[in-house]
Amino acid sequence: MKVLGLSGSLRAGSHNSRLLRAAAELLPPGVELVEFDGLKAIPPFDEDDEAAGHHAVDALRAAIDSADAVLIATPEYNHSLPGQLKNALDWISRPLSESPLRNKPAAVVGASTGLFGAVWAQAEGRKVLGALGARVIDRELPVGLADDAFDGDGLADADQALALGGILAELVGAEREVALAA
Ligand SMILES: Cc1cc2nc3c(=O)[nH]c(=O)nc-3n(C[C@H](O)[C@H](O)[C@H](O)COP(=O)(O)O)c2cc1C
Repeated sequence: MKVLGLSGSLRAGSHNSRLLRAAAELLPPGVELVEFDGLKAIPPFDEDDEAAGHHAVDALRAAIDSADAVLIATPEYNHSLPGQLKNALDWISRPLSESPLRNKPAAVVGASTGLFGAVWAQAEGRKVLGALGARVIDRELPVGLADDAFDGDGLADADQALALGGILAELVGAEREVALAA
Protein backbone atom coordinates (compact mmCIF):
# COMPACT_ATOMS: atom_id res chain seq x y z
CA MET A 1 0.00 0.00 0.00
CA LYS A 2 1.20 3.49 -0.87
CA VAL A 3 0.38 6.76 0.92
CA LEU A 4 1.08 9.96 -0.98
CA GLY A 5 2.47 12.66 1.30
CA LEU A 6 1.73 16.22 0.27
CA SER A 7 3.41 19.04 2.18
CA GLY A 8 1.66 22.38 1.91
CA SER A 9 4.96 24.17 2.42
CA LEU A 10 7.41 24.85 -0.39
CA ARG A 11 10.43 25.76 1.73
CA ALA A 12 13.37 23.40 2.09
CA GLY A 13 13.42 23.37 5.90
CA SER A 14 9.68 22.91 6.27
CA HIS A 15 8.34 21.58 9.56
CA ASN A 16 5.43 20.08 7.63
CA SER A 17 7.71 18.13 5.33
CA ARG A 18 9.40 16.91 8.50
CA LEU A 19 6.00 15.89 9.85
CA LEU A 20 5.53 13.74 6.74
CA ARG A 21 8.89 12.08 7.44
CA ALA A 22 7.76 11.45 11.02
CA ALA A 23 4.59 9.85 9.62
CA ALA A 24 6.65 7.63 7.31
CA GLU A 25 8.43 6.22 10.36
CA LEU A 26 5.12 5.30 12.01
CA LEU A 27 3.41 3.51 9.14
CA PRO A 28 2.61 -0.18 9.61
CA PRO A 29 4.74 -2.76 7.77
CA GLY A 30 3.91 -3.02 4.09
CA VAL A 31 2.82 0.61 3.84
CA GLU A 32 5.15 3.19 2.31
CA LEU A 33 4.91 6.97 2.15
CA VAL A 34 6.00 8.70 -1.04
CA GLU A 35 6.31 12.48 -0.91
CA PHE A 36 5.03 14.57 -3.84
CA ASP A 37 7.67 17.14 -4.72
CA GLY A 38 6.05 18.99 -7.60
CA LEU A 39 3.80 21.45 -5.79
CA LYS A 40 5.87 24.53 -6.65
CA ALA A 41 5.68 23.79 -10.39
CA ILE A 42 1.88 24.01 -10.48
CA PRO A 43 0.82 27.24 -12.22
CA PRO A 44 -1.88 29.58 -10.94
CA PHE A 45 -5.29 28.18 -11.72
CA ASP A 46 -7.01 29.94 -14.61
CA GLU A 47 -10.21 28.54 -16.09
CA ASP A 48 -8.98 29.68 -19.51
CA ASP A 49 -6.02 27.27 -19.17
CA GLU A 50 -8.08 24.31 -18.01
CA ALA A 51 -8.59 22.70 -21.41
CA ALA A 52 -4.87 22.84 -22.24
CA GLY A 53 -3.92 21.56 -18.77
CA HIS A 54 -0.35 21.53 -17.45
CA HIS A 55 2.24 18.80 -16.99
CA ALA A 56 2.72 19.70 -13.31
CA VAL A 57 -0.99 19.24 -12.67
CA ASP A 58 -0.91 15.94 -14.58
CA ALA A 59 1.96 14.86 -12.31
CA LEU A 60 -0.12 15.56 -9.21
CA ARG A 61 -3.14 13.72 -10.62
CA ALA A 62 -0.95 10.74 -11.50
CA ALA A 63 0.69 10.71 -8.07
CA ILE A 64 -2.71 10.68 -6.36
CA ASP A 65 -4.06 8.07 -8.79
CA SER A 66 -1.16 5.75 -8.07
CA ALA A 67 -1.54 6.11 -4.29
CA ASP A 68 -4.02 4.28 -2.08
CA ALA A 69 -4.39 7.17 0.35
CA VAL A 70 -3.25 10.76 0.76
CA LEU A 71 -1.73 12.47 3.79
CA ILE A 72 -1.49 16.26 3.71
CA ALA A 73 0.76 18.07 6.19
CA THR A 74 0.00 21.74 5.99
CA PRO A 75 1.20 24.96 7.54
CA GLU A 76 -1.32 27.65 8.36
CA TYR A 77 -1.09 30.97 6.56
CA ASN A 78 -3.34 33.65 8.03
CA HIS A 79 -5.63 31.07 9.62
CA SER A 80 -6.14 29.17 6.38
CA LEU A 81 -4.47 26.91 3.82
CA PRO A 82 -1.34 28.13 2.02
CA GLY A 83 -2.36 29.52 -1.37
CA GLN A 84 -0.24 27.12 -3.43
CA LEU A 85 -1.80 24.07 -1.79
CA LYS A 86 -5.34 25.38 -2.31
CA ASN A 87 -4.42 26.30 -5.89
CA ALA A 88 -3.26 22.74 -6.57
CA LEU A 89 -6.45 21.30 -5.09
CA ASP A 90 -8.51 23.66 -7.25
CA TRP A 91 -6.73 22.38 -10.39
CA ILE A 92 -7.47 18.74 -9.66
CA SER A 93 -11.05 19.40 -8.59
CA ARG A 94 -12.41 19.62 -12.12
CA PRO A 95 -14.25 17.89 -13.56
CA LEU A 96 -15.42 16.78 -10.13
CA SER A 97 -16.50 13.37 -11.43
CA GLU A 98 -12.87 12.74 -12.42
CA SER A 99 -11.25 14.13 -9.28
CA PRO A 100 -8.37 11.77 -8.40
CA LEU A 101 -9.37 12.26 -4.77
CA ARG A 102 -12.84 10.85 -5.31
CA ASN A 103 -13.41 8.14 -2.70
CA LYS A 104 -9.69 8.25 -1.81
CA PRO A 105 -8.93 8.04 1.93
CA ALA A 106 -7.26 11.28 3.01
CA ALA A 107 -6.09 12.85 6.24
CA VAL A 108 -4.72 16.25 7.17
CA VAL A 109 -2.15 17.05 9.83
CA GLY A 110 -0.23 20.25 10.39
CA ALA A 111 2.58 22.04 12.14
CA SER A 112 3.05 25.71 12.88
CA THR A 113 5.48 27.75 14.86
CA GLY A 114 2.63 29.25 16.86
CA LEU A 115 0.74 27.66 19.72
CA PHE A 116 -2.19 26.25 17.83
CA GLY A 117 -0.52 23.87 15.39
CA ALA A 118 -2.33 24.94 12.22
CA VAL A 119 -5.73 23.73 13.45
CA TRP A 120 -7.66 26.14 11.25
CA ALA A 121 -5.67 25.20 8.17
CA GLN A 122 -6.30 21.52 8.91
CA ALA A 123 -10.04 22.18 9.21
CA GLU A 124 -9.97 24.05 5.88
CA GLY A 125 -8.01 21.18 4.35
CA ARG A 126 -10.58 18.62 5.47
CA LYS A 127 -13.36 20.82 4.09
CA VAL A 128 -11.72 21.15 0.66
CA LEU A 129 -10.85 17.43 0.48
CA GLY A 130 -14.48 16.67 1.30
CA ALA A 131 -15.58 18.94 -1.57
CA LEU A 132 -13.35 16.89 -3.87
CA GLY A 133 -15.02 13.66 -2.81
CA ALA A 134 -12.25 12.23 -0.64
CA ARG A 135 -13.01 9.92 2.30
CA VAL A 136 -11.71 12.34 4.87
CA ILE A 137 -10.47 11.13 8.24
CA ASP A 138 -12.20 13.35 10.79
CA ARG A 139 -9.17 13.88 13.01
CA GLU A 140 -6.50 16.52 13.40
CA LEU A 141 -2.96 16.68 14.68
CA PRO A 142 -1.99 20.18 15.78
CA VAL A 143 1.77 20.32 16.15
CA GLY A 144 2.40 23.74 17.71
CA LEU A 145 5.70 25.40 18.56
CA ALA A 146 7.14 23.45 15.67
CA ASP A 147 10.68 24.78 16.06
CA ASP A 148 10.97 22.52 19.13
CA ALA A 149 8.52 19.74 18.23
CA PHE A 150 10.85 17.38 16.36
CA ASP A 151 13.54 15.07 17.53
CA GLY A 152 15.62 13.58 14.71
CA ASP A 153 13.14 12.19 12.18
CA GLY A 154 10.25 11.96 14.63
CA LEU A 155 7.96 13.94 16.90
CA ALA A 156 9.58 14.72 20.25
CA ASP A 157 6.34 14.38 22.21
CA ALA A 158 5.25 10.75 22.73
CA ASP A 159 1.55 11.66 22.90
CA GLN A 160 1.77 13.48 19.58
CA ALA A 161 3.57 10.52 18.01
CA LEU A 162 0.80 8.25 19.34
CA ALA A 163 -1.88 10.55 17.90
CA LEU A 164 -0.14 10.61 14.52
CA GLY A 165 0.08 6.81 14.57
CA GLY A 166 -3.67 6.68 15.31
CA ILE A 167 -4.49 8.90 12.34
CA LEU A 168 -2.31 6.75 10.08
CA ALA A 169 -3.98 3.57 11.35
CA GLU A 170 -7.35 5.09 10.52
CA LEU A 171 -6.11 6.15 7.08
CA VAL A 172 -4.82 2.67 6.31
CA GLY A 173 -8.02 1.11 7.69
CA ALA A 174 -10.16 3.35 5.47
CA GLU A 175 -8.12 2.28 2.44
CA ARG A 176 -8.69 -1.38 3.28
CA GLU A 177 -12.46 -0.72 3.50
CA VAL A 178 -12.37 0.93 0.07
CA ALA A 179 -10.39 -2.00 -1.37
CA LEU A 180 -12.83 -4.55 0.08
CA ALA A 181 -15.82 -2.66 -1.32
CA ALA A 182 -14.28 -2.50 -4.82
C1 LIG B 1 2.37 34.18 5.23
C2 LIG B 1 2.42 33.47 6.57
C3 LIG B 1 1.30 33.44 7.36
C4 LIG B 1 1.31 32.73 8.57
N1 LIG B 1 0.17 32.63 9.31
C5 LIG B 1 0.14 31.82 10.38
C6 LIG B 1 -1.09 31.56 11.06
O1 LIG B 1 -2.13 32.06 10.72
N2 LIG B 1 -1.06 30.73 12.13
C7 LIG B 1 0.09 30.11 12.55
O2 LIG B 1 0.07 29.36 13.52
N3 LIG B 1 1.27 30.33 11.92
C8 LIG B 1 1.32 31.17 10.85
N4 LIG B 1 2.50 31.37 10.18
C9 LIG B 1 3.73 30.76 10.69
C10 LIG B 1 3.91 29.35 10.19
O3 LIG B 1 3.28 28.48 11.10
C11 LIG B 1 5.39 28.99 10.09
O4 LIG B 1 6.02 29.83 9.14
C12 LIG B 1 5.60 27.53 9.75
O5 LIG B 1 6.92 27.17 10.03
C13 LIG B 1 5.31 27.25 8.28
O6 LIG B 1 5.38 25.87 8.02
P1 LIG B 1 6.65 25.17 7.36
O7 LIG B 1 7.71 25.13 8.43
O8 LIG B 1 6.16 23.80 7.00
O9 LIG B 1 7.09 25.97 6.18
C14 LIG B 1 2.50 32.09 9.00
C15 LIG B 1 3.64 32.16 8.17
C16 LIG B 1 3.60 32.81 6.97
C17 LIG B 1 4.84 32.81 6.08
